[in-house]
Amino acid sequence: HAKLRGVVALDGPSGTGKSTVSRKLASALGAIYLDTGAMYRAVTLAVLRAQVEPSDVAEVVRVVRAAELTMGTDPERPSVLLDGQDVGQEIRGPEVTGAVSAVSAVAEVRDQLVALQRELIGQALSEPGGIVVEGRDIGTVVVPDAGLKVYLTASSSARAQRRTAQDVSEGRTGDLDRTHADVQRRDALDSGRKVAPLRKADDALELDTTELDVAGVLEQLHKHVESRGLLT
Ligand code: DC
Repeated sequence: HAKLRGVVALDGPSGTGKSTVSRKLASALGAIYLDTGAMYRAVTLAVLRAQVEPSDVAEVVRVVRAAELTMGTDPERPSVLLDGQDVGQEIRGPEVTGAVSAVSAVAEVRDQLVALQRELIGQALSEPGGIVVEGRDIGTVVVPDAGLKVYLTASSSARAQRRTAQDVSEGRTGDLDRTHADVQRRDALDSGRKVAPLRKADDALELDTTELDVAGVLEQLHKHVESRGLLT
């Protein structure tokens, strides 16, 4: 089977199917997978556990500096450890989701996590096989020279529906109206922040997934990976 070489960067707001297609693409191409949103979520959990207000920047920076993150990058079973403990479930809950935009707007937090992301990506590229990285600023900030940059979009109502379905399928309460409001609130915060706002890189391929299913998105991605000569 053909394998990926180099980096595929997938950015976009929440609910575009980014995580699902990133993992499937990485699996199909024998690549590893890095979920940078999980990193921002995990340090947000550290902030909440320390009972620090997300708006208290100095304390947030102190807690995040002390947090030890370990990212499992197997696309079949990605994991995130905070101080040695698996927090994969807890970081998807409403408390973290409510606070993550504030924590991820702090420049020092971003500097720390971007450095760790680049280290993990560098390690991956020193071995055969590439890496699929998903987030908000991968194509613009973290890996501006990625072999393929994709910016996924979808209408906010389609994204809220997907997030709600995902919550239900993973055993959490699904609430479409609340999720829709949350999706719009986070879009505004993530796009409006000063440091590394969510935005399409000039040279990213934009893919609107409102009318596409996962297979349809994957088909597009495979086509572009191949046409850019990113297979070995
Ligand atoms: O993809 P996600 O919903 O798990 O991301 C959670 C939050 O983390 C999102 O609201 C914004 C932030 N984030 C970021 O600022 N930069 C990234 N590269 C990834 C996520």
